[in-house]
Amino acid sequence: MLIINLVWVPDMFFLKHALFVSVVALSCLSTQRFATAMVPQNEVDALQQIAKTMGATYWEFNATSCKLETVGVTSPEPPAGSEKNITCNCQFHNNTCHIVAIEIKRFSLPGVLPPELVQLPYLQDIDFAYNYVSGSIPIQWGSMELNFISVLGNRLSGEIPKDLRNFRNLTYLNLEANQFSGTLPSELGKLVNLETL
Ligand SMILES: *[C@@H]1O[C@H](CO)[C@@H](O)[C@H](O)[C@H]1NC(C)=O
Ligand SMILES: *[C@@H]1O[C@H](CO)[C@@H](O)[C@H](O)[C@H]1NC(C)=O
Ligand SMILES: *[C@@H]1O[C@H](CO)[C@@H](O)[C@H](O)[C@H]1NC(C)=O
Repeated sequence: MLIINLVWVPDMFFLKHALFVSVVALSCLSTQRFATAMVPQNEVDALQQIAKTMGATYWEFNATSCKLETVGVTSPEPPAGSEKNITCNCQFHNNTCHIVAIEIKRFSLPGVLPPELVQLPYLQDIDFAYNYVSGSIPIQWGSMELNFISVLGNRLSGEIPKDLRNFRNLTYLNLEANQFSGTLPSELGKLVNLETL
């Protein structure tokens, strides 16, 4: 009896232990699966196009970590005082992350504002302050639901488009230190959510 017991007890212990180990392994596996939530390829491609339109020659975005690794015009090294940040929202049920904010400041980007922003349907905030971006605000942006726009300190010109009236969700708009001409469209008065201009 005693011998059987001696054998039985370690066996039970082993079984319980094995069960515990496999439960832990299973939960690690699902954590692993959650951790690999990715930005969909169409958004990654849109980002690449946006970078090109804005004049970046160096661009590296990690779709797994949602990290903007590299932006550059003449070198992959970040200029002094530059700030870059892409933010994703990963609270979607099917392990999908979507790009919700883009900040690319003080990179001397020489291109134009990207109409391709419309290909990022979850995008809310953009900050392209202190670059050398020229041209005007793309009319395509009018169909977006942006909250925050800063193009402070660029080389934008022309009239401020009336289509801005479509930015119904806009709470912050900074067009300062550019070469815009004409008057502010009266339509801006219809931006009921605007808090800062
Ligand atoms: C992207 O980020 C993931 C998670 O942080 C990392 O494991 C992977 O090595 C990165 N990929 C590249 C190409 O840097
Ligand atoms: C990037 O932006 C997000 C959201 O605004 C913020 O929480 C995060 O701290 C920022 N990261 C860096 C490195 O600035
Ligand atoms: C994944 O989630 C997104 C956002 O909630 C949704 O638009 C899309 O249809 C979902 N895809 C699948 C395959 O369920």
